[in-house]
This record gives sequence, structure tokens and C-alpha cells, in this order.
Amino acid sequence: MDRLNAEQLVEIAALEIRDHSKQDDIKEQEWHSDQFSVYLVWQGKEPLLPGRTYEFISPNATTICSVSSLKYRLEPNNKRQIAAATLKQLDIGYCNIELDQSIDYAPASYDDKLGKFILNDSRTGEQVAIGLIQFGLRRATNIRWQEVEIGQVARAIAKQQKPHVLWFTGLSGSGKSTIASLLEKKLHARGHHTYLLDGDNVRHGLCRDLGFTDADRVENIRRISETARLFVDAGLIVIISFISPFTTERRMARSLFKDGEFSEIYVNTPLEICEKRDPKGLYEKARRGEIKNFTGLDSPYEVPEQAEIILNGGKEPPEALSKQVLDYLILKQLI
Ligand code: ADX
Repeated sequence: MDRLNAEQLVEIAALEIRDHSKQDDIKEQEWHSDQFSVYLVWQGKEPLLPGRTYEFISPNATTICSVSSLKYRLEPNNKRQIAAATLKQLDIGYCNIELDQSIDYAPASYDDKLGKFILNDSRTGEQVAIGLIQFGLRRATNIRWQEVEIGQVARAIAKQQKPHVLWFTGLSGSGKSTIASLLEKKLHARGHHTYLLDGDNVRHGLCRDLGFTDADRVENIRRISETARLFVDAGLIVIISFISPFTTERRMARSLFKDGEFSEIYVNTPLEICEKRDPKGLYEKARRGEIKNFTGLDSPYEVPEQAEIILNGGKEPPEALSKQVLDYLILKQLI
């Protein structure tokens, strides 16, 4: 049987929605939500990565969205539901999505225009999916932001510092953690309250369930970004040291903070040098095929396009590079 095209797959998704919608889903009510159960017909050449942010466009709104959980992939021919971690081109998936803001909508079974949307790659603008809304998730409307009395400004004043995120990115073995740690010592010596989040350490706790597939790396960075957001809100200077190989997630992380509150620091050490250093023997293992998806070898590293600071990790020693970051912070009056 020929592969079905995107329009035919959207038809199948529409039939699924019609067949499985309960009366409650289409009962006319306040159709306003920021979380939805949807069918996606994936069109992107790159697979869907749950947790990654995509541009969401519906007749009523343009905003940012991410897939919070992919329930299953639907076999178009026999309607079987197959467990899936991702969707490839011309797969149909059933999932929950979260938007950055609440929108007016209608279930696709009620209004085929208001129930339809597309997703674009937020970096290239290329369309990657057509989606149909089955229903809005009500929990979205039952959770309100709890106002607190003591805010970020009060905490920052108590600490006498400007909260900030220093986001180190670079290959494994590039020197991120060494430089970050030296920088933290310098900041501490000047009386600042800092917190260092490091890839290897966080993967023992908060992210211990995650591996190194693209999808797991996206989730890793999402959790770290949210943690950094809490620490910045607490008034701290947060130092982040993760490979964070994808531009889209580094951009998402930046978007969580106010202007001037986030500095990206690219530790630019050539792969050959990282591999020669190989402090944990991981490159050697990866070359022997004992570790899969190793950054720089069989998993990509996207070079930062908007880093505030680029450190020449192949030439300068870590001490000088940490001083370079400190000088930047002084120059920008961040400390
Ligand atoms: S990230 O890509 O999700 O940002 P993270 O910084 O948390 O990665 O973890 C990277 C660390 O995990 C590396 O410094 C290395 O010690 C270890 N590691 C183990 N397997 C891999 C792999 N396949 N690719 C990269 N790093 C790995």
C-alpha cells in the first residue's frame, strides 16, 4: 500500500477524534485553555522531540508550544496504538501539548477550522506538523499562579547582588566544569551567593532517569532551565555547566529570563583537543562503540550563534578563562 500523504493522515486523525469524542468534549462551554489533547501529523524531516519548543499557529493565536507527553503513535492502516518516544515524518501521534498562553479554541469535532493548528520549527520557521485539537485539558484552568509576598527584588536586595544565569555550553572535555568551578570560587570570594549546576552531578539526581538520546537531552535542559529559573528567583548567581548541544533549547532557556539576566558562554575547544584530553576516557569508549550518541562523534553539537562570551578553551588555561568571565561581569556591572 502506498504511503498516505499528510492530508489523508489528517483525515484519519479527524475520524479518530469523531469516533472517540465524548459528548462532554464538545459540550459548548468556555473554550479557553493552554493545554490540549491533540493528534499531530508529523511533517518535519527531523523527528518530533517532546519538550522542545515549537511555534504554534491556530486561526486565533500564534504562540510557543511543546509536547508534554506523547501517548502513542497511531498506525494509519489498522488504528493500532504503538508506544512511541518520538514521531517521524508522516507519523500520526496522540499527545498532550502545552502552550505559553491560553487561547480560544474549539474541538476539531465541533469546528474543523478552530480545532486545527500547525507547528513550525522555531529556528527555521519550516512547518513541521498539522494538529487537531480533541479537547482542552481542564487542569490548566484549575491551577493559578500563587502570589507571594517576598519577591525576587526583595531577595536580591537582601543578598546585595543581581541574580544572573551564566550558561556554559561546549563539548565534553572542553573545560566547562573546570572554568565554571574556578569562576564560582572567584565569585564566592567576592561575597556573592552562587550555585553551580553541573551535568554530571545533576544526572545523579534530578535527571538520573535521562540518557543521551536527543529527546532525553531536550528534557535534561528543560529541567535545568526551570531549576535555574527558581534559583534566579531566589536571588542567586547561577552557573550552569552542560553540553547543551542544541540551539533551540539554549534559546528556550534564555527565553525564561529577563533581558540582561542570562549570559551564554561558549567554551570553544576543538573536538580533537577534547578527544586528546579525554579526562574520563569517554571518547575512547565511544570510538570503540561502547557508548552511543556521543556528542561530537555520532550526536551533533550546534555551535552557539548568540553567545555573550566565547572562550578559547583550546589555547588559554582555565584560570585565565574564568578571569575573562569575571572581567565581563564587572564590565557589564552585573557584579
Ligand atoms: S547534555 O547534552 O544533556 O547537556 P550533560 O552536560 O547533561 O549533556 O552531560 C554530559 C556528560 O555526561 C559528559 O560530560 C560526559 O561526562 C557524560 N556522558 C556520558 N555519555 C555521554 C554521551 N553519549 N554524550 C555526551 N556526554 C556523555
